[in-house]
Amino acid sequence: MAKQFDVVVIGAGPGGYIAAIRAAQLGMSVACIDAWSTADGKPAPGGTCTNVGCIPSKALLQSSEHYEQVNHHFSEHGIEVKGVSLKLDKLVGRKNAVVKQNNEGILYLFKKNKVTFFHGKGSFAAYVDGGWNIKVSGASEENLVAKHVIVATGSSPRALPGLPFDEKKILSNDGALSLPSVPKTLGVIGAGVIGLELGSVWRRLGAEVTVLEAMPDFLAVADQQVAKEALKVLTKQGLKISTGVKIGEVKTTAKSVTVPYTDASGAEQSLTVDSLIVSIGRVPHTEGLGVETVGLKLDERGFIVVDDDCKTNLPNVWAVGDVVRGPMLAHKAEEEGVALAERIAGQHGHVNFATIPSVIYTSPEIAWVGRNEQQLKTAGVDYKAGSFPFLANGRARALGDTTGFVKILADAKTDEVLGVHIIGPMASELISEAVTIMEFRGAAEDIARICHAHPTLSEAVKEAALAVDKRTLNF
Ligand code: FAD
Ligand code: NAI
Repeated sequence: MAKQFDVVVIGAGPGGYIAAIRAAQLGMSVACIDAWSTADGKPAPGGTCTNVGCIPSKALLQSSEHYEQVNHHFSEHGIEVKGVSLKLDKLVGRKNAVVKQNNEGILYLFKKNKVTFFHGKGSFAAYVDGGWNIKVSGASEENLVAKHVIVATGSSPRALPGLPFDEKKILSNDGALSLPSVPKTLGVIGAGVIGLELGSVWRRLGAEVTVLEAMPDFLAVADQQVAKEALKVLTKQGLKISTGVKIGEVKTTAKSVTVPYTDASGAEQSLTVDSLIVSIGRVPHTEGLGVETVGLKLDERGFIVVDDDCKTNLPNVWAVGDVVRGPMLAHKAEEEGVALAERIAGQHGHVNFATIPSVIYTSPEIAWVGRNEQQLKTAGVDYKAGSFPFLANGRARALGDTTGFVKILADAKTDEVLGVHIIGPMASELISEAVTIMEFRGAAEDIARICHAHPTLSEAVKEAALAVDKRTLNF
């Protein structure tokens, strides 16, 4: 006899597991199915984010930054360290342990919230009176019946045509997070978020890293003043970045990878490296879900088509996260999961796409929310800009980390904050004040009048707000 649930969630990434927990909190009977396994076949809920994304990349970024600091910056503090050596297996082992803690944390949260977990692949079998038949195959073999189904099956790395990932020479984010040794030379195709974060990790650990980007502008998605600063700083750190390139046919041997390409001037070039990370975006993942069996509608790029409420073309079938439109970010997936569970429960959950922050965890970090100068100009919005450099911030000087600035863009007439762009230390944390202000539709003057603790990096945000009105106090 099939097990019955109010809600069955397929996928336990940040979209799925959070939706399952919220639905259970609201009194529904909930099951969550996830196929991800550890090397020894145990369940590994948490999706891309936990297993091969946000969490492991941040663990490696932290470890490699320590290595960079001890090798190049401790002496500025009068600390001389001799005989520094790298134990890569331990560094990667620590990252794996952090991932495991998060997998186990999610299993604990499922128990705590009475979410029934099934380890296996979920697929649509049929629509029967009163619900959807969902088949689980793999470690668990079950037939479930659900009133509502939430699809949160995430995304997979996009390969270059004709160049499949072997995770030894041609690496996706998965292989790039677990290299057995530091390559002498590493190529990266795509100067997006993964390329810059993982390129930085391996550069800090000793690889010579070359990044090849198709777009003429570096970090075209960011405010261009921030992007210019980032290019300057990352290049100075040793990342070799070329934009405006066209990649030719990549050749792989047992020892190396050769990437022929045309550079921005049209000249033919060739790059030979030990390994190559291909980070050119991700594609929605719906394989094996039984999309055709039930007629779930996908768009031309393979995303599940949803409306603003995450409703698909099928009754009581919903979808959230990377498998639907919008930024491929864990916090966007989570917000959609919460809002959707609340709507299924008859409440009014909603996600404000205008205040979803973006962060790139390079050093310095890059973070923004709202619109940038290019976008405001294109939209013909009359705005004022105020900037403040970390060079003039006492805490940044004490930290020895004065790169970058905070820039606030506010409406010229109403002073409402329209966008905040930060490059500098702890930008990932600083951006949350900007998100809060924008969520409340606050003005630059609101930030300027808030008391910020001294000495903190957050004073740079306050000073940038003062700069909008041309009245900085410390610059
Ligand atoms: P996923 O996390 O992809 O989870 C989907 C889950 O569904 C997986 O466990 C999969 O196994 C399972 N699944 C798929 N099909 C089935 C099926 N038929 N049956 C059962 N289970 C199934 N975002 C950030 O916000 N911050 C970051 O710092 C960040 N860093 C990243 C670093 C890297 C290297 C990468 C690759 C991504 C990063 N992201 C980051 C993006 C983030 O990981 C994704 O946006 C997020 O994981 C999407 O969540 P999701 O729940 O939609 O899908
Ligand atoms: P991305 O979209 O950030 O960057 C891909 C880059 O590759 C772009 O700059 C693009 O112009 C370039 N590109 C595409 N085709 C190319 C080609 N043929 N040759 C050369 N360059 C090419 O995608 P990325 O880095 O793969 O990351 C995937 C997703 O994961 C992103 O959408 C991001 O949101 C998410 N992510 C988020 C992180 C964070 O929030 N800190 C960290 C890592 C990933």
